[in-house]
Amino acid sequence: MATEQVRITVFDTTLRDGEQSPGCSMNHQEKLRLAHQLDRLGVDVIEAGFPIASDGDFEAVKAVADVIRRPIIAGLARACQPDIERAWDALKDAARPRIHVFLATSDIHLQYKLRITRDQCLAQAREAVSFAKSFCSDVEFSPEDATRTDPDFLCRVLEAVVEAGATTLNIPDTVGYTVPSEFGELIATIRRRVKGIEDVTISAHCHNDLGMAVANTMAAIAAGARQVECTINGIGERAGNASLEEIVMAIRVRHDRYPYETGIVGEQIFPASQMLSEITGVPVQPNKAVTGRNAFAHEAGIHQDGVLKNPLTYEIMTPQSVGVPDSKLVLGKHSGRHALAIRCEQLGYQFDRRALDDIYRRFVRLADKIKHVEDHHLLELIRDTHKPAASATPLFEPLPNAVAAAANPLAPESPRPFPLAPQTNAFGAPLPVPGDQHHDQEDYLWGV
Ligand code: KIV
Ligand code: ZN
Repeated sequence: MATEQVRITVFDTTLRDGEQSPGCSMNHQEKLRLAHQLDRLGVDVIEAGFPIASDGDFEAVKAVADVIRRPIIAGLARACQPDIERAWDALKDAARPRIHVFLATSDIHLQYKLRITRDQCLAQAREAVSFAKSFCSDVEFSPEDATRTDPDFLCRVLEAVVEAGATTLNIPDTVGYTVPSEFGELIATIRRRVKGIEDVTISAHCHNDLGMAVANTMAAIAAGARQVECTINGIGERAGNASLEEIVMAIRVRHDRYPYETGIVGEQIFPASQMLSEITGVPVQPNKAVTGRNAFAHEAGIHQDGVLKNPLTYEIMTPQSVGVPDSKLVLGKHSGRHALAIRCEQLGYQFDRRALDDIYRRFVRLADKIKHVEDHHLLELIRDTHKPAASATPLFEPLPNAVAAAANPLAPESPRPFPLAPQTNAFGAPLPVPGDQHHDQEDYLWGV
């Protein structure tokens, strides 16, 4: 009998916290375009913006709320009447609106930023949530800087807002200060001590100042959080927010450790990442997990050889599962003959062993100088190495296999070129034939 999986709500805040990242602000049309992609991606909640922040943001939240009908659409509001009214104005025509109210609770924020006492804070949080509740049944409350708030006081505030009608309690690590064990304990404490907690959803909202936003989010899930707040490509204030794609793929790839499910359509992850990058003009860090351009690229010869034989050797998820068209073999000085031969084949050239040796030596010298050998470099190198006039018997076949075969289908089978190509793997690359262990071993060593 199949056991029912615990569902994690994915709350995407790319259009709100994400756009607070320098250089990432988006206009109305851009937000709407990305919101459609977030809908295709299958997020459960889209936080579309902070309506009181500007007329432009109000219009953007309103447009998203009016047009995108499946997910919940949230708008952010400080814990005061004008913010909450403005948020509701923007959200009121949404199919599933949510008002997200926040108020800082740490002593540092109360004393220096808000200049209010703890008692005033408690009263303000309660009143703001009841006011929001008078418009909308779905109200989320966030005690800003929760991870630097006295836990006793935090629990008192949370209890007060649950009584006032909050349906989601979001626990922000606003300054990216916490660590996984501590954050997990905080969520467990809240679950144990806050009256009425069983009827509300606990959410985690982690920033990445110490590079632990995703790890902290995973710890929160393990401790009982059932909503995660995250952004595409991990964009957000300062060092960013927890990255949606990393959380989702951690749950998927390590399902043995995280037996949960999300509604995310994996194949839409890369398109969402690309669209965001195109809209904001902010490129994705090349080695970014899951969506960076190197996330599925292999340069080391040993790795390339392994991946060509079976992708499982060096890939824990397939590129296709996150919508990346293919894994890339990057030709550089660490590459081996196996990958070089396959790239030559893809360019229409098959070489016997000796010719490949020749090309390979020159290729390594070139790669030492220029780092990445692109196809046009390789073509030039092939032409240089094997100028027709320099050799009476050409060592390479300059026609693509299929073209050559079509030209003379009855010709006797020629001696098998290297590499042998009887089968292809998931990348369309040839697999070695049985009995070719000698070559396999050589490829492996050459790849070092
Ligand atoms: O980081 C934070 O505290 C926030 C709140 C507004 C939820 O973004
Ligand atoms: Zn935040």
